[in-house]
Amino acid sequence: MRYDIAIVGGGPAGYTAAERAAAGGLKTVLFEKKAIGGVCLNEGCIPTKTLLYSAKLWDTMKGAAKYGITVPDAPAFDMGKIIDRKDKVVKKLTGGVKMTVGSYGVAIVEKEAVIAGEENGMFRIVAGGETYEATYLLVCTGSDTVIPPIPGLSDTDYWTSKEALESKELPRSLVIIGGGVIGMEFASVFASLGCKVTIVEAMERILPTMDREISQSLSMLLKKRGVAIHTGAMVEKIEQEDGQLVCCFTEKGKAQRIPAQQILVAIGRRPNTQGLFAGGFEVACERGRIVTDQSFRTSVEGIYAIGDVTAKIQLAHMASAQGICAAHIIAGQQPPINLNAVPGCIYTDPEIASVGITEDEAKAQGIPVKKGKYLMTGNGRSIIDEQERGFIKVIAHAETDVILGAQLMCARATDIVSELSTAIVNGLTCAQLASVIRPHPTFCEGVTEAVEDVHGMAIH
Ligand code: NAI
Repeated sequence: MRYDIAIVGGGPAGYTAAERAAAGGLKTVLFEKKAIGGVCLNEGCIPTKTLLYSAKLWDTMKGAAKYGITVPDAPAFDMGKIIDRKDKVVKKLTGGVKMTVGSYGVAIVEKEAVIAGEENGMFRIVAGGETYEATYLLVCTGSDTVIPPIPGLSDTDYWTSKEALESKELPRSLVIIGGGVIGMEFASVFASLGCKVTIVEAMERILPTMDREISQSLSMLLKKRGVAIHTGAMVEKIEQEDGQLVCCFTEKGKAQRIPAQQILVAIGRRPNTQGLFAGGFEVACERGRIVTDQSFRTSVEGIYAIGDVTAKIQLAHMASAQGICAAHIIAGQQPPINLNAVPGCIYTDPEIASVGITEDEAKAQGIPVKKGKYLMTGNGRSIIDEQERGFIKVIAHAETDVILGAQLMCARATDIVSELSTAIVNGLTCAQLASVIRPHPTFCEGVTEAVEDVHGMAIH
């Protein structure tokens, strides 16, 4: 079977690229060894956000009295039903994606693909005992959880995000190793549902790569909700004692022992390249990730790679944007998406979002900037919805007024950030963003205030 392009991996990178390639007239085959939709749809973004929604609803119900609503005595949730609903959402979306990909005329092969070599200008891919040939190859095999070599860990039934999304029983207590994005989202879910959560993070703050104020604010909010946070903490070993797991770590030189019913490992993800190539044929990798240039080209002409397997930015929306761009590049067209402004989002309560550079990064790069900040405590919609503290920060070039970055921590931050991404991609100024009427009362009125504050003109 001969194709113009073979795509290995059916996550957001692969299925988006397949649709766009087929829409552009390329005869396309897509290989997926587990489930179409990849980690994002099956065991990542979508299921986590579904659990976060249930947790949020539970929090709202517990606090219903402040809205004048009396909830009958002993309200309860059923973890099994929460997980069942999550599975339903996943099934609906993955089914939809599979249908859409098929409707573009993409051949879907639900088997593990091995790239076996190149002959007469065609790549050979073997899957399920069949051989497929393609002129171009796009590798989008994604990533998997990094498991640290902590003594004692492999003797336990520890969780990764995958198991955490499947358990129909809520642990009484949970230690999360890693205070990054996955750690924070699960801390939110489990703490809301009444589990005693402890976060153990190696760096000096949670979310160490994000704006410092965001880390500090989230840390405060989580502590208020009963989450214990240990930073600058190195896990030494995991012990088992009285039917419990004990996380032993050193925090700023002091030995600590935290017992818990379950441990969740969330210290990052590593690219998936194992077993992908056969017969000595391979592309250049660096610390496990496939090396690519700006146009997603690998060291072998005709082979491209995108998404988590290239490990530059491991985000589903970046992967799908790269999928679209790669399909256009392979078809000899200009890529239609600007990949320079990538929003980073965390779906905690309140939500967190960031795009472009932070004030610290601007300083480090010697860029003169001015900052505008709006505290959402003055935003009507935030007061109506009983939102906790939150803010919108905008960073603009000191001379040109062009927006360079934004950091948000407030309700709907993950939606509002797109307005700021649009501004950055199009080189808009604070004055231009301030010249728009935003509906009242909405959370996005905070954007008006933040960009006006850059000029010292904020009203509220
Ligand atoms: P991460 O890189 O965001 O965070 C891992 C954290 O673990 C870091 O803060 C790191 O300092 C810490 N760490 C590393 N080794 C440690 C150790 N031995 N002990 C204690 N702490 C240690 O990785 P995470 O949270 O696993 O997420 C993986 C990827 O998935 C990220 O690229 C993330 O952006 C992406 N993702 C995105 C989501 C979103 O967009 N909402 C949701 C979930 C994941």
